[in-house]
Amino acid sequence: MTHIDIGASLGERETTARLDATRFNRHTFWCGQSGSGKTYALGVVLEQLLLHTELPILILDPNSDYVRLGDVRAAPSSEDASRWRDLDIRVLRSGHVTGDPLRVRYVDLSAASKAAVLQLDPIADSEEYNVLLHMEIDGESFDGEATVRDLRASSDPVKRRLANRMENLQVLEWDLWSLGTASAVDTVDERPRATVLDIGGFEHPAEPKVAALAVLERLWARREERRPVLIVIDEAHNVCPPSPLTAVERALTEQVIQIAAEGRKFGLWLFLSTQRPTKIHPNVLSQCDNLGLMRVNAPRDLAELAAVFGFAPEDAVRRAQTFAQGQALFAGGFVSAPVFVQMRERITPEGGGDVKVPLRQ
Ligand SMILES: Nc1ncnc2c1ncn2[C@@H]1O[C@H](COP(=O)(O)OP(=O)(O)OP(=O)(O)O)[C@@H](O)[C@H]1O
Ligand SMILES: [Mg+2]
Repeated sequence: MTHIDIGASLGERETTARLDATRFNRHTFWCGQSGSGKTYALGVVLEQLLLHTELPILILDPNSDYVRLGDVRAAPSSEDASRWRDLDIRVLRSGHVTGDPLRVRYVDLSAASKAAVLQLDPIADSEEYNVLLHMEIDGESFDGEATVRDLRASSDPVKRRLANRMENLQVLEWDLWSLGTASAVDTVDERPRATVLDIGGFEHPAEPKVAALAVLERLWARREERRPVLIVIDEAHNVCPPSPLTAVERALTEQVIQIAAEGRKFGLWLFLSTQRPTKIHPNVLSQCDNLGLMRVNAPRDLAELAAVFGFAPEDAVRRAQTFAQGQALFAGGFVSAPVFVQMRERITPEGGGDVKVPLRQ
């Protein structure tokens, strides 16, 4: 059994609080209102898992909070610092910043997801859907403009409609497409110790979702290889909401539901963080065996949490109303009994951090 130290337990006698690292072979739900310290505390747990296990970690990071995961901040023990330097940590960036870019190939996507990107419904848009299904697209040499030109020059009105759709949705202009360069899907396939996908910097609102979809679909398609990975999704309400609106959101939510329901035995373990339990699809929530709960004020949310996570005593859950920043309740498989914790400090710098109110000098 391997335990990771995550802070000090709150109580009469202060002791080191530990999580059983071997129990991250289940899905974990991480909850707390804005500013409660979820992202910071999540970072503490990930750092300790990186130091004390061999578990590969994939992080979907919508706010560039983990883009500096490769750097060590204040001198931790020299042993930790040298171990940290040996870790294979890859950070793929979106937006116009320096670093390795986050890209995926259109051909990485399943047929259904390719159609979702173009908002094509297999029944309502059956003709265009079918043309797309049979289109030969080579990810290495794909030329968007030439594709639209060829479709438009066709005598087939369905192809001309598809050209219009591609142009109107401006999908071909997305920065996300790798067009022959490296795809994040391949990076994740290599299973580095940590892959941070900085998905927040794209211009089009669907791009981060399609990036997540491409990577999760590949993990699912190759599940039989049984190569474990902890899939960390911060702001998970954007990835598996209870009522997805667009075709891409529906495809993504369905993929997460499938991983939540069937991924565990293949080594696809979710670690989902969000502000309120009701912002996550109930079929995902109900599959989580570990709970990390930070401050939550709303009595309705606390009642929901106690109802879903039967292993967390109701009075313990209610105490989340009194938590200061950085305090958390842990319950479920990764602790032998529910425990209240003051989280320890991070050893790597945060990418974001809060903006302060400007004051007069
Ligand atoms: N244990 C801690 N020690 C020191 N600073 C902390 C701690 N926890 C959080 N903070 C700081 O508090 C601020 C808010 O924390 P964090 O970003 O983790 O909140 P959050 O719960 O993820 O909020 P949101 O839901 O809005 O993303 C950050 O600036 C962070 O640096
Ligand atoms: Mg956060």
